[in-house]
Amino acid sequence: MINRRKFIALSALGSAALIDKKMMAAEQTNSIGAKPVVISTWDAGIEANKAAWKILGAGGRALDAVEAGVMVTEASQNCCVGLGANPDRDGFVTLDACIMDEFFNCGSVAFLERIKHPIAVARRVMEKTPHVMLVGEGAQRFAIAEGFPLEGQTLSPNAQKAYDEWLKKSEYKPVINIENKNNRGSSVPSQFESGEFNHDTIGMVAMDAKGNLSGSCTTSGMGFKMRGRVGDSPIIGAGLFVDNEVGACTATGQGEDVIRIVGSHTVIELMRQGLSPEAACKKAVERLVKIKGAKAKEIQVAFLALNKKGVTGAFAIHKGFSYALKTEGVEKLVTAKSLLAG
Ligand code: GLY
Repeated sequence: MINRRKFIALSALGSAALIDKKMMAAEQTNSIGAKPVVISTWDAGIEANKAAWKILGAGGRALDAVEAGVMVTEASQNCCVGLGANPDRDGFVTLDACIMDEFFNCGSVAFLERIKHPIAVARRVMEKTPHVMLVGEGAQRFAIAEGFPLEGQTLSPNAQKAYDEWLKKSEYKPVINIENKNNRGSSVPSQFESGEFNHDTIGMVAMDAKGNLSGSCTTSGMGFKMRGRVGDSPIIGAGLFVDNEVGACTATGQGEDVIRIVGSHTVIELMRQGLSPEAACKKAVERLVKIKGAKAKEIQVAFLALNKKGVTGAFAIHKGFSYALKTEGVEKLVTAKSLLAG
């Protein structure tokens, strides 16, 4: 029976916590509850986590771990992150990234060209400027002044092939979701239709041995996007948010829709109300699906979160999203639950 004190305490948690009692029980499926711990989006997260673990496992700071971790993916030529990724519609790779530590310090770069490690530039923005975000030419100038080399503009072989293919049918129109529409018009099933939506981002959140949280997020954004388009990944609160009292969250998928609900911040606020990471990610996904209505079928968005106890959780609109988890003695890919079957 609930006594008066318990009732008041539960009420203070907010109705969301009560509604999601079932989800709280379900959190055990993805929970580890250990520290240090690092989680990151998609299969590429396995390699990224290894680099992060070198720091976390040696007692290092979560901030250093999440920077070093995603740099592995940024350097990869076979991924949709970093300079090897698909270009925009004009044939240029443009990169977005952000980073956040346990003190609400944050830094971000967007529409950055010819710099191999946007996450490292984002950290410099955080640590060496009075600003949170630098974009485009200004971000590039800052990076060069900080000693980052200016790389060439040649597309990676995979990106060149994909761009040549895209150019065959491309129409330069600012139509939302045109990438999905083009894919659906093609005889080749899109990654989306085959259950593997375009892996366009790596988001990573970690807790170190001291229990402090940090996060990073880096991407080339949507392949064949309009020139100048920026998604959620460099937007603090959308692609990433860290509150050291509550947890850390990152997002992947259609950036415009993550921004629409300030996704990662939303997940953290739901966790603050008492929801487990998985339940909070599910609630945010449900909110988005409700807003999008029938169009929810055309987009993928997933959230990945970690709370202060080291419990992890994720939820996606569509099936096919997985995340990589690393803690002492554990290295695995976890399949996230989803709202829609396809
Ligand atoms: N989530 C990455 C992007 O939309 O740019």
